[in-house]
Amino acid sequence: MGFSLLPKATSCILFLVLLSSTCFTSTDAYDPLDPNGNITIKWDVVSWTPDGYIAVVTMNNFQRYRHITSPGWSLEWTWAKKEIIWSMMGGQTTEQGDCSKFKGGIPHSCKKTPTVVDLLPGTPYNQQIANCCKGGVLSSWVQDPNNAVASFQVSVGGAGTTNRTVQVPTNFTLKAPGPGYTCGRAKIIRPTIFMSLDKRRVTQALMTWQVVCTYSQFLAQKYPTCCLSLSSFHNNTIVPCPTCSCGCQSSSSQSGHCAKPGTLNLASVVSGFGKNKVSPTIQCTNHMCPIRVHWHVKLDSEKYWHVKVTITNFNSRMNYSDWNLGIQHPNFDHRTQVFGFSYKLMTPYDSINDTALLWGMKSQHDHFLNLAGPNGKVQGDILFRKDKATFSFDKGWAFPRRIFFNGDMCVMPPPSAYHL
Ligand SMILES: *[C@@H]1O[C@H](CO)[C@@H](O)[C@H](O)[C@H]1NC(C)=O
Ligand SMILES: *[C@@H]1O[C@H](CO)[C@@H](O)[C@H](O)[C@H]1NC(C)=O
Ligand SMILES: *[C@@H]1O[C@H](CO)[C@@H](O)[C@H](O)[C@H]1NC(C)=O
Ligand SMILES: *[C@@H]1O[C@H](CO)[C@@H](O)[C@H](O)[C@H]1NC(C)=O
Ligand SMILES: *[C@@H]1O[C@H](CO)[C@@H](O)[C@H](O)[C@H]1NC(C)=O
Ligand SMILES: *[C@@H]1O[C@H](CO)[C@@H](O)[C@H](O)[C@H]1NC(C)=O
Repeated sequence: MGFSLLPKATSCILFLVLLSSTCFTSTDAYDPLDPNGNITIKWDVVSWTPDGYIAVVTMNNFQRYRHITSPGWSLEWTWAKKEIIWSMMGGQTTEQGDCSKFKGGIPHSCKKTPTVVDLLPGTPYNQQIANCCKGGVLSSWVQDPNNAVASFQVSVGGAGTTNRTVQVPTNFTLKAPGPGYTCGRAKIIRPTIFMSLDKRRVTQALMTWQVVCTYSQFLAQKYPTCCLSLSSFHNNTIVPCPTCSCGCQSSSSQSGHCAKPGTLNLASVVSGFGKNKVSPTIQCTNHMCPIRVHWHVKLDSEKYWHVKVTITNFNSRMNYSDWNLGIQHPNFDHRTQVFGFSYKLMTPYDSINDTALLWGMKSQHDHFLNLAGPNGKVQGDILFRKDKATFSFDKGWAFPRRIFFNGDMCVMPPPSAYHL
């Protein structure tokens, strides 16, 4: 496998402790299943104004399987000079800041470090631009490339009006909505070429720069968010998720706060009254993960073997619409069939061709799409074609090598548990 490409292993030890599993994806923003995954933010200056420019800012999610869900992204930067934002379309800053020195027109924002968020669906058309107004939600590249892009337009004042006087903003920060992304410096690149709709005329940006942001599970959160349990038709033992996969139960610590099964709905209603008491939204389990993935080897026939995959939600506050599940298993190939889920093989590079992405089918009822509610569940079947040379029930061969939920690695049972 291609894991020898590991550049540096800064956080491996911590990861080992947390996951009691091998260390491989934990380096800074490095993901062996999506080595070039990034969010690219491009600024195209499309016209000059008396004191600055108008730019269209486009965010492309080039990550194969990581998306941004509600309440959506926010983007922050620091102006290099004394720029202000006169107006915006398709997005807005969260704060106006101090614009008191402006007598006539009042700018949209005078903050040195503005924070921009997307507008909501249903925004009046005169405030929209293409690809805006999705409440900050951004699909992953594999699941829905058409919705993996967001844009807003910004009219900047106090900026200079030639490509030599404009200075690129600094210190870009992308939140989704929490931490996890690290953005590089803005780099001036060749001006973008635009093609008119009828393809008969080509125009180009007056100036273009871009910023590349990458994700690291480490920056994003302290605890893993999902775990794997296993079973097989030829042995009635069920291997549960490892205890304390995502934290341990305890009444004192914040992380170990949980709700007894059946009390979840009540607990979250009560929480509305007392603000200090954060009500638990995670159901009490041994693993304490919001998401459990169960892999059941179901059937073995001459030509095929079947797996039933069940994803269960233990977090009453999340419905995980647009969830996705990455699975690594050597039997995935072009002939694998999946029922109940949408499915695509991922081939990040030639040496890894054993990974697939599963997600909810839009055509089906909501309960196949969403993991809403306590014990919300989705299920599907994978039909693998047998390759006699490699197939085996030995040493856990029929179990997945790694599992990712919404792009984050799930905690696996220890190797000894694979001897079902
Ligand atoms: C970002 O993703 C794009 C699309 O996959 C790729 O072409 C580009 O090289 C990536 N950039 C970096 C810095 O990884
Ligand atoms: C960049 O942003 C971070 C976080 O917002 C802040 O702590 C840091 O001081 C900023 N750096 C500069 C040079 O503005
Ligand atoms: C700025 O404009 C000049 C002349 O129009 C052009 O030659 C140059 O490449 C531009 N520089 C950038 C960074 O776009
Ligand atoms: C799931 O959550 C999203 C965003 O929070 C919301 O828009 C959607 O209506 C919810 N769906 C269900 C079935 O609860
Ligand atoms: C997958 O990759 C392995 C190792 O690089 C190779 O031997 C195998 O033929 C590939 N399988 C497919 C279906 O491409
Ligand atoms: C079933 O799995 C358990 C746990 O790994 C093992 O101890 C037991 O021997 C297995 N039973 C059979 C019949 O293989």
